[in-house]
Amino acid sequence: MSNRTLAILKPDCVRKNLIGQVVAKINEAGFKVVAMKMTHLTNESASGFYEVHKERPFFGELVEFMTSGPCVPIVLEKENAVADFRKTIGATNPANAEEGTIRKMYADGIEQNIVHGSDSDENAKIEIAHFFSRKEILENYGL
Ligand code: CMP
Repeated sequence: MSNRTLAILKPDCVRKNLIGQVVAKINEAGFKVVAMKMTHLTNESASGFYEVHKERPFFGELVEFMTSGPCVPIVLEKENAVADFRKTIGATNPANAEEGTIRKMYADGIEQNIVHGSDSDENAKIEIAHFFSRKEILENYGL
């Protein structure tokens, strides 16, 4: 069981000026931020990131949305990070998300759902490497 997961505060989160509130909720849930940046995904980068969904009917829209403005990828650390973070953000569709979850509180719909969270330890490793080099992660700053 890995203690890291990748979150992305999606372009709707950035546009709605909710970065601070969402990071605060994440910290309150016990996660430590060990890497964070703001970036504007290219088509190629977003398509690569969501490669597993490329046969889905919503793939084109998903890539368009994820490239529609800057987003904020974050590496989070906590025991049981992947599963606990998915609990913290709630169901993909905010209509099905539990009260108090980040998507229930802030998301408008299944596509514009504020935040991404890795779905397995294996994918967390791949997704973290998509955005961050080793030296961009806190423990490797040499502080
Ligand atoms: P995320 O956790 O980032 O992983 C894949 C994303 O695809 C998901 O969040 C949603 O934003 C999006 N998604 C999933 N299902 C649908 C759907 N039926 N229509 C549009 N977007 C979807």
